[in-house]
This record gives sequence, structure tokens and C-alpha cells, in this order.
Amino acid sequence: MTRTPLIAGNWKMYKTERQAEEYIQALLPRVSAVNGVDVAICVPFTDLRAMVDSARGSRVEVYAQNMHHEPEGPFTGEVSAPMLSELDVRGVVLGHSERRALFGETDKALALKVPVALAAGMVPILCVGETEEERDGDETDRKLRQQIRDDLAAVPGERLADVVIAYEPIWAIGTGRVASPEQAQEAIAFIRALVGDRDSEAAQGTRILYGGSVKPDNAAELLALADVDGALVGGASLQAESFAQIVAAATP
Ligand code: 13P
Repeated sequence: MTRTPLIAGNWKMYKTERQAEEYIQALLPRVSAVNGVDVAICVPFTDLRAMVDSARGSRVEVYAQNMHHEPEGPFTGEVSAPMLSELDVRGVVLGHSERRALFGETDKALALKVPVALAAGMVPILCVGETEEERDGDETDRKLRQQIRDDLAAVPGERLADVVIAYEPIWAIGTGRVASPEQAQEAIAFIRALVGDRDSEAAQGTRILYGGSVKPDNAAELLALADVDGALVGGASLQAESFAQIVAAATP
């Protein structure tokens, strides 16, 4: 089964609407000739409407960075799936390690959120990964097994291939320390095997991204790995030029 690579830029809490407009005007011409790779930018809520409007008709899709599982309710400060999908938001990052570590995101909440995103027609990018301490303690497999099991528990087998998984070793996020190709391939093949334990056919279709200090100069090597189906890019996605270079590196 061929899996279309996905290059997703996670802006995190960067860019006002005005800055986002400048960015998208710079990005669109740089990726207009690209074929065979899906491109997404995951932007702050306040930038969603402007980015959806500006990217309409292009190959760039606009994703959010978080979502509540309830459609509406007394949840101050939260945003729901219907609110996102009505804006034509195509996907959402769920369970980023920053949300887990800084904002109390739990596996229990993620087990609710992932199927809700799918039901709303959005692509969930579920983030998983180990801390440096867990890697040093040989706990990487245990952590990944637990996150994949718990966070995807309520996703039926026939929808598993519609979930994008991002393997983001926490020690490689924003540190400039990138996983070695061997580490990335090993962890991502392990994640694919875990999905395969649920549904072997789905595992062949599930896109699994690498995230953590992906830059234009290391992207090609990571993206060439057998099980790596794209990248979730933080810092290097904030400049249209470097993000476009990573998109070009993913082009088959
Ligand atoms: P960096 O690319 O800045 O390391 O961030 C990775 C990340 O967290 C993407 O979600």
C-alpha cells in the first residue's frame, strides 16, 4: 500500500493573524508545483479562519492544535469539533507533548478526542513519544505501547488508517537534537507493529510521522526511512522558505 507523505507544520503559539497572512502568501507559491505530498499547517485558533480562506484551492490544508471532545458545553476556553469543521479545518493535532506536560492532557481525554475528530471528518494527528529519562531507562517501547493502546482504544479497526500518528521523542523537541535515523525508524516501525496488533491492514495504511528538530538539512534522510511517512515540524515551519524546503524533501 502506498502512503502519501504528510508534511505538517506545527506553529505552536506563534503568529498573529497578520503574520500568518504574510506567511501564507510566501508559502503558497513555494509549494504550488509540489506533487505527491500532503501539506498542512497547524495554526493557533485565532489564525484558522484567515488561513482557511487564504489557502483555499491550494494544496495547503489548515489544521488546529487542540480540540475538546464535547460538541458544546460549559468548558471555558475550549473549542469543539463542530466549531472547527464549520470553518473547513481539515485536521487537528491531539496529545502534543507540550499539552500533556504543561496543560494536563491525559490519555483518557485523548481516547475521547481522537474518535470525535474522525467523526467530524477531520484528520487527527495523535502525538506520542518518550522522555529522555524513559529512553535512557529502556522504557521507550513501554511508553509507546501504552499511549497507542490507550489513546486509540475507541477507534474502530476500520478507521485506524485515518489517524495520523506523530512519533515525537520529547528530548528532540525544540532542542536541535534530532533522533538518529536508526532511532526514528525503529520507534516508528514499532508503532506500526502496535497498530498492526489491532488491525494488520490498517497498519499498512496508517501514516506515521517523525517530529523533533526536523530541519531542511536533515529532512531528506529522515523522510527516506522505510516507515517514516512525513514530518511534524515545529521551529522550521515558522519560515515559509524552510518549511517549503522540507516539503520539497518529501516529494517522491
Ligand atoms: P521542533 O521541530 O521545533 O523541534 O518541534 C517539534 C514539534 O514539537 C512539532 O510538533
